[in-house]
Amino acid sequence: MNIKQTLFASTLCVFGTAAMAAELPAPLPNIPDAPTVYPAGELGRMVRLGEDIIYNTNTHELTKDLVGNDLTCSSCHLDGGKEPTLGTFIGTATSFPAYSPREKTVQTLQNRINNCFMRSMNGTRPIIDTEASVAMATYVTWLSSGLPINLNPKKPVNPFFTDVWWGKKWVLPMLKTVTRENYKNGEKLYAEKCQDCHQADGQGLQTEDLKFPPVWGDRSFNTGAGLSKPEKLPTWLLYNMPLGDPDLTKQQAVDIAIYVSAQPRPDFDLNKALFPREQMGVYNSKVLTEKHTVRSNFAKWGLDVDVLRGEKKASAQ
Ligand code: HEC
Ligand code: HEC
Repeated sequence: MNIKQTLFASTLCVFGTAAMAAELPAPLPNIPDAPTVYPAGELGRMVRLGEDIIYNTNTHELTKDLVGNDLTCSSCHLDGGKEPTLGTFIGTATSFPAYSPREKTVQTLQNRINNCFMRSMNGTRPIIDTEASVAMATYVTWLSSGLPINLNPKKPVNPFFTDVWWGKKWVLPMLKTVTRENYKNGEKLYAEKCQDCHQADGQGLQTEDLKFPPVWGDRSFNTGAGLSKPEKLPTWLLYNMPLGDPDLTKQQAVDIAIYVSAQPRPDFDLNKALFPREQMGVYNSKVLTEKHTVRSNFAKWGLDVDVLRGEKKASAQ
């Protein structure tokens, strides 16, 4: 428990309201500290190279051409995945190789990283075993030094968050009741809690010193990315935003996620995201077509994004 959660919990003891408890995110698991000692020799050089790429993915010489937006891995895996929060890389490598229901094949860590390139970075997959690909996997693996290997037969996910990601139990019931009011409330909350950094137009602010990444539009993640999904973004927000002081209730996280997810962003089409086979090596998947738009990400849950945006009246049921 961090200090805020402890305070919150003790407030709960005093007032004892169950309704308030339902608002709280589940406490973060105890995540060990990131290692501080780099391995010797060439291996250590690869860890540092991977670290450099993870923090500077869109500008690094080895990866900038593979990135199609203004994000770095560190934009979502905070502090290069060292931050002990949802999205951390500490522990991640212990669950790989892991079965992935999305590709219906067993994924290696390099492969899983490539999926974030193609979706979250709106880019293209690095060729497996190139220097950049090995370096990133080496760095991510180093962050699990000393932790026991425990291959995951169900999903390629950080073991500390197997049951936390997406909080299906609480997000899905809330999504079922979403209306235009939630969108409008999300818009208001975005102005209060997010806009200072990510700006009213969602394009963020990138100067010499400030790096606030875009949260929608052409320079953001595409509609195939985890965070583009209205059912997935709320959980990530609960633990990570506003940066440095995440304080959203579950309902606020859902409303903001509805508003942010309803904004335009690049469509995802697997066939367009893949390099020609001869340039890419093997794309390890049994699923070879997949397309998403903002509209389809909402339609999946029976929601009409045009109605939420106020561009269309709800049809009479
Ligand atoms: C826009 C946000 C975003 C960016 C940018 C991003 N990721 Fe991810 N990444 C996610 C989310 C969300 C998940 C987990 C959920 C899922 O499986 O969809 C994830 C999962 C992963 C995982 C699987 C294990 C785990 O911890 O759950 C790895 C490894 C990973 N990302 C690596 C990377 C690397 C390397 C980069 C940079 C090339 C990157 N990601 C960029 C959002 C992002
Ligand atoms: C104090 C500034 C600040 C505030 C306030 C803030 N963010 Fe962020 N946000 C950041 C920074 C900086 C990053 C990238 C992380 C990094 O580089 O360490 C980020 C990353 C993100 C990302 C993932 C990367 C991307 O650009 O898509 C999303 C989504 C996001 N923020 C949404 C929100 C939402 C929604 C709110 C309001 C609830 C919010 N943020 C409030 C600074 C902020």
